[in-house]
Amino acid sequence: MGNMKKWLALVSGLLFFGVVNSQSSDPKMKLFIDALMKKMTLEEKIGQLNLPGSGDIVTGQASNSDIAKKIKEGQVGGLFNIKGVEKIRDVQKVAVEQTRLKIPLLFGMDVIHGYQTTFPIPLGLSCTWNMEAVEQSARIAATEASADGICWTFSPMVDIARDPRWGRIAEGSGEDAYLGSAVAKAMVRGYQGNDLSKDNTIMACVKHYALYGAAEAGRDYNTTDMSRIRMFNEYLPPFQAAVDAGAGSVMASFNEVDGIPATGNKFLMTDVLRKQWGFKGFVVTDYTGINEMIDHGMGDLQQASALALKAGIHMDMVGEGFLTTLKKSLQEGKVTQKQIDDACRLILEAKYKLGLFQDPYRYCNIERSKTDIYTAANIKKAREIATESFVLLKNQGGLLPLKKTGTIALVGPLADTKENMPGTWSVATDLSKAITVRQGLQNASGNNVKIVYAKGANLDADSNYEKRATMFGRSLNRDKRTDAELLNEALAAASQADVIVAALGEASEMSGESSSRTNLEIPQIQKDLLAALVKTGKPVVLVLFTGRPLALAWEQQHVPAILNVWFGGSEAGNAIADVLFGDVNPSGKLTTTFPQNIGQVPIFYSHKNTGRPLQEGKWFEKFRSNYLDVSNDPLYPFGFGLSYTTFSHSDVLLSSPSLRGNQVLTASVTVTNTGKTDGKEVVQLYIRDLVGSVARPVKELKGFQKIELKAGESKTVSFKITPQDLKFYNYDLKYDWEPGEFQVMIGGNSRDVKMSKINWVK
Ligand code: BGC
Repeated sequence: MGNMKKWLALVSGLLFFGVVNSQSSDPKMKLFIDALMKKMTLEEKIGQLNLPGSGDIVTGQASNSDIAKKIKEGQVGGLFNIKGVEKIRDVQKVAVEQTRLKIPLLFGMDVIHGYQTTFPIPLGLSCTWNMEAVEQSARIAATEASADGICWTFSPMVDIARDPRWGRIAEGSGEDAYLGSAVAKAMVRGYQGNDLSKDNTIMACVKHYALYGAAEAGRDYNTTDMSRIRMFNEYLPPFQAAVDAGAGSVMASFNEVDGIPATGNKFLMTDVLRKQWGFKGFVVTDYTGINEMIDHGMGDLQQASALALKAGIHMDMVGEGFLTTLKKSLQEGKVTQKQIDDACRLILEAKYKLGLFQDPYRYCNIERSKTDIYTAANIKKAREIATESFVLLKNQGGLLPLKKTGTIALVGPLADTKENMPGTWSVATDLSKAITVRQGLQNASGNNVKIVYAKGANLDADSNYEKRATMFGRSLNRDKRTDAELLNEALAAASQADVIVAALGEASEMSGESSSRTNLEIPQIQKDLLAALVKTGKPVVLVLFTGRPLALAWEQQHVPAILNVWFGGSEAGNAIADVLFGDVNPSGKLTTTFPQNIGQVPIFYSHKNTGRPLQEGKWFEKFRSNYLDVSNDPLYPFGFGLSYTTFSHSDVLLSSPSLRGNQVLTASVTVTNTGKTDGKEVVQLYIRDLVGSVARPVKELKGFQKIELKAGESKTVSFKITPQDLKFYNYDLKYDWEPGEFQVMIGGNSRDVKMSKINWVK
């Protein structure tokens, strides 16, 4: 029997669509849920699949809310984005005291970059290339959220995104599947720990499955249509990594994938997720995802709901399609009892794994909510991690770090606004406690530096645009003065200063959901301000806020120093000061390519070669793959980021130039800190498969190590490479490697690498 099982597991692992048992293997849990489900009516089972909006709940009066009526009738499986442990406790009480079967509710929230202690937006967090830090941020988020009633987070968001027009690029880890997979695993580990039933771990929900980041034209919710090879090699790996790391749930994406909305897409939800990857948790729709299938042209709500259930969706967020139509569909033979039972079982299993049946108030410890949230230790970590997420894009003549003497003119609409600091999707943050750049500089410099502040410009000249770009309480308090008055004040401040720090860029709600842009530049009014500041002849440091790669060709040409700070979370202002004054040496590296202009988009480092690639050293040749007006190069490549020191990388040393079968190759370089400051370097390994049965990318990240080097110090960094690292999905979607020649490249970014060649035979 044992051997038979092993065999089955092996076969299912080997076959592309092998059959994997989707029921959990915990016999105690099975017994418990079997017994519970025997008692449940059809309506109660369907009720478990319902995740309504949280409506009108008021602490102390939860029992009288509209939602409470539904809960009492057994029509609710969980709620989300309710903040506050007392409120949540009240609602849980309704579920466990006033329903027939006393089944506790799940309480979810978008805890995507911290809870009250807010960390950098995920795109920034990925630029740390520090998986320990990523995991720690998720661990702290889970500790705080679980102390405030939350047991389920809609994170990590692992959508690969290569189109900076798409605002939600801010919520993920950038363009690369390998790095994205590492981040996905670290986040899941951080949230879930190794025991979901502990009171300080929460269930992860990997989203948005799938290909949401490949929306056509970067317009949110838009269609995707993609080859299976690209899908499996470049977009799905982070989802699979999160599933392998044990993520308890998955969220379906809004978009259509190859003609069928993800929410109703059986290929994605069942064939790949469950059968191929062996996912055992439940799948929730995104917000009204089922209802939106009506507009996608998939039929009415009943049809869409049946399609979703049959595809492999188990919980319906907000739209109540399941709640209102599944019974009818069952009676009409459009869905089966088994499909409803399977979905219900998975929701109950999640509650069981979270320990909610043992103690429905496990995550409602009022004491913990007072001691575990926004602690001094958490705040310190947030500051530390934020400094590591910043990317130094330019530092001409060593303008940075700044000295803690003299006068700084601090200018810009983003210099003194708390609301703008934490970043998009910081649902539980306390805006009143966020540290601004102005505050941060003041904290760091005490009385030694004079800081003269001027707003200099509004976010955008168009007040309506500014309104759209600063929703959800993130107003920048638009200044009523004229553009000229604001500019004059800034120039007066600049005239007194030794150095100008310009805090410019995007407002935090210019990225995130439904915040796509067709222009990737800093808003023109701010660019005008920047140009005027540069024209003064004083040294200018651009502190750039953004949730996406921007087109910064002018800035790169004219501004001596550029520090990209994304949105750094609650401690952003202090962290920015730490880096500007050199108390921390920046070490972030880009995880998305920055284009020269929007016309180059999509531009990413792991592209294919074409049959007419440009010759090395040329930027235009007729009848080659290029543009008339601009070179193919990005402005800043993937993996790029400067430091206050410099590093040199030696040639790549290989343990052997030719390998066979499962041998292990060691590739090493010696990295030296050639400057005068201690610093950290991210050493990156890329591989190119020179000949394949399908065209292969010009390079793919296959390893990285972040090392610390004292001034003058050298370290040897080694990567172990096995055939596992050479595998890819071929035309038949078989995951394997092919023998032949490979380039092994190592460097400090994806452009500047040293290369060596190997031959690997089977
Ligand atoms: C977003 C999800 C989010 C959900 C719940 C949706 O609009 O697409 O990412 O988890 O809302 O807040």
